[in-house]
Amino acid sequence: MKRLTVPAIQGRKVDGRTADPLVMLTAYTARQAQLLDPHCDMLLVGDSLGQVIYGLPSTLAVTLDMMIAHGAAVVRGSYHSLVIVDMPFGAYEASPQQAFASASRIMAETGAAGVKLEGGAAMADTVAFLTQRGIPVMGHVGLTPQAVNALGGYGARGKSEAEHAKIVADASTVADAGAFGLVIEGVMEDIAIAVTDSVSIPVIGIGASAHCDGQVLVTEDMIGMFDRVPRFVKRFDNVAALIDSAAQRYAADVRARAFPTDEQVYRPKK
Ligand code: KIV
Ligand code: NA
Repeated sequence: MKRLTVPAIQGRKVDGRTADPLVMLTAYTARQAQLLDPHCDMLLVGDSLGQVIYGLPSTLAVTLDMMIAHGAAVVRGSYHSLVIVDMPFGAYEASPQQAFASASRIMAETGAAGVKLEGGAAMADTVAFLTQRGIPVMGHVGLTPQAVNALGGYGARGKSEAEHAKIVADASTVADAGAFGLVIEGVMEDIAIAVTDSVSIPVIGIGASAHCDGQVLVTEDMIGMFDRVPRFVKRFDNVAALIDSAAQRYAADVRARAFPTDEQVYRPKK
C-alpha cells in the first residue's frame, strides 16, 4: 500500500462533502505508529506529546527538536498514513520566515508530509508563505491549546455570537490562504457544522461534531491511559488497567522468585 498523499486526502472532500470520514490519531513513537497506521488515514505528531510523554503542564515548553525526534520516529514506524507534525509554540508565530525555517527543518529531518499550526487570521500570511513554497499546512482553530494563557483555560470555545463569528471567519481565512486541511477543536457543535460546510478543505474535528469530514483524538486518551480526560474523549479501551495488572503480576513474580523460570534462563547445552 502506497502512502497517502496530501492531494489524496484533500480529494476525499468532493463538492463540500466527505463520503468516507477521515480517520486521524496522534502518534509519538515508532511502535505506536506501526500499530495505528493500518487503521488511519493520517497520523498527527501532536505537541500534546508535551503533556502525554513528557509530563509537562501544557504544550508551551515543547521544542522543535522534540517534535523532530518524535516526527522522525512516527514516519519510520508507518508506511500508509499521511504524517503531519505540529509546529511547536514559539517556532512559527514571529514571521512567515521564522515559520519556514522551522517547517523546512521538520520536513527535511522527519520525512513528514506537512505541518500543522494553530491560529486563524493572524496566521494567514504564514499559511500562504509555506504552502506557496511547497510545505503543506494544516490549520487548527477553535480551542488552540498554545493560547491557553490568553484563552484562560481549555473550555469549549464559541459560546458568544462574536466568538462564533470569529472562529468561522478564522477557518475561512486559513482555508483561503492555502491550508490543505483544518483541525477544529473544542467548539460548540453548530460552529463545527458551519465551518465544515463553509470551507472546501477537509475539516477534522476533536470536541467538535460527527458532521466534520473526519475525527482526531489523542491516542493515549482514546485507549484509556489516563484517569481524567476531556468530555469530548471516548475511551475505547482501558490500557492503563492492562499495564497496571501486568506490572503488578511481574512485581509479585519477582518478589516470589517465580520469575525468571527455566524457560527464560540460559544454561549450557547438555
Ligand atoms: O497536539 C495534538 O494532539 C493536537 C490534536 C489534539 C489536534 O493538536
Ligand atoms: Na497540537
